[in-house]
Amino acid sequence: MTHASAVANPVVDAVLDAIEIPENAAVVDLACGLGRPSLTLAARRSDVTVLGVDLDPAAIGHARAEARALGATNAEFAVMPLEQLTIPAASTDVIVSTFGLLQVGDPRQSLREAVRIMRLGSRFSLATYGDMRSNTLWSLAAPILAWYAPPGTAPGSRVQSFPDSTARKELLREAGFGEVEESTVDFFIRLPDFAAIWRMLSQPGMFGGIIDAFCGGTAVSVQRDLRSATEVYADAPGGEYVFPASCLILRGTLHLRDPLSPAFWNR
Ligand SMILES: C[S@@+](CC[C@H](N)C(=O)[O-])C[C@H]1O[C@@H](n2cnc3c(N)ncnc32)[C@H](O)[C@@H]1O
Repeated sequence: MTHASAVANPVVDAVLDAIEIPENAAVVDLACGLGRPSLTLAARRSDVTVLGVDLDPAAIGHARAEARALGATNAEFAVMPLEQLTIPAASTDVIVSTFGLLQVGDPRQSLREAVRIMRLGSRFSLATYGDMRSNTLWSLAAPILAWYAPPGTAPGSRVQSFPDSTARKELLREAGFGEVEESTVDFFIRLPDFAAIWRMLSQPGMFGGIIDAFCGGTAVSVQRDLRSATEVYADAPGGEYVFPASCLILRGTLHLRDPLSPAFWNR
């Protein structure tokens, strides 16, 4: 369970600090995984209510347990696909997402769903890899996994990115988001040992399905190659691994939509 604690914190801070979160806001964290930024925000702001949603029941179970342990009564979690949110239209004041919206599933459909649940004037703040190659760990792992992957499961097919800024903004505009401001955050993915690297790569949001499909002998070969490729990022033999990464923060406010756009009518 390394992802939320090891990776997300500087990014979570950047996402939460990028927008003003109104008093008593109803906040939805899309593809919340183990529960950040939901839990960070719930701890900082007792006046807001946060709903974290994710497709992975195990991740949601973990987030709920952590909320109970922290006494975060203003954070709830639910299993739900981003493409079909069981959340009422125009009920949400703030949308946040770290490496979820735009990265997983069907981004066109999930962006439309995000807009559907937002009130006019809602804020959004999303962390996403503009280009997955700015995640060193992903870049090292993807070719190795592609080499060993059974046909039809090539890495990259599970994690999406939109490196072209114009295309990215157009995608958001088509869904009804309007003006989007972009900034960049550089951070480090710190993992204590190789087992943590393997666990992270095995998550559904990374290469989960592909790694699960490896039989015993193949998994051993993949681990051997990954060990040797990642060694250079260990700060000392047997020590912590530190992978540089860089992502985008996309933020804005949902304004009155263009009545000529399909997104206006198809909510
Ligand atoms: C890279 S993780 C990010 C998790 C979390 N936001 C964080 O930063 O720690 C991507 C998450 O998306 C979830 N996911 C993948 N496809 C999804 C979908 N179609 N609907 C909802 N969640 C999905 C995965 O279960 C995973 O938890």
